[in-house]
Amino acid sequence: MAENQNGVKRMEIKHIQSRGALLTSLEKFPFEVKRIYYIQGIQNNDVRGNHTHKKTRQLITCIRGNCRLNINNLSVMFLDSTESIIIEPSDTHKIYNFSNDCILMVLASEEYSENDYIR
Ligand code: TYD
Repeated sequence: MAENQNGVKRMEIKHIQSRGALLTSLEKFPFEVKRIYYIQGIQNNDVRGNHTHKKTRQLITCIRGNCRLNINNLSVMFLDSTESIIIEPSDTHKIYNFSNDCILMVLASEEYSENDYIR
């Protein structure tokens, strides 16, 4: 796992050409994955996230398309299927600038609970 100068962690994504198809694999998660959710059909001008969590750690990537991810107003990253970023509970994350075909996928360390949000 690599870390940028602002302490943002990236996980490696493996892309394998397999009989003309593209197989994508992620492994060695830094937490036990208890939930996966994905969002599609997001309006270009929508902003998702914009909160922190008490306990939940998340790994975020785009299965398709791209968007931008802002963490703590320090790091702005281009996110697509080659990037996967760890969002720590105290990281305020804003996701925006969605391409029309974007499918955002998130793997989370906790099951869904509104009590875990700090909005
Ligand atoms: P929210 O987490 O606010 O979306 P985002 O962070 O992408 O802006 O969730 C939007 C709605 O979906 C809210 O009503 C809660 C619900 N939700 C679930 O029921 N389960 C989940 O796993 C998630 C992430 C959200």
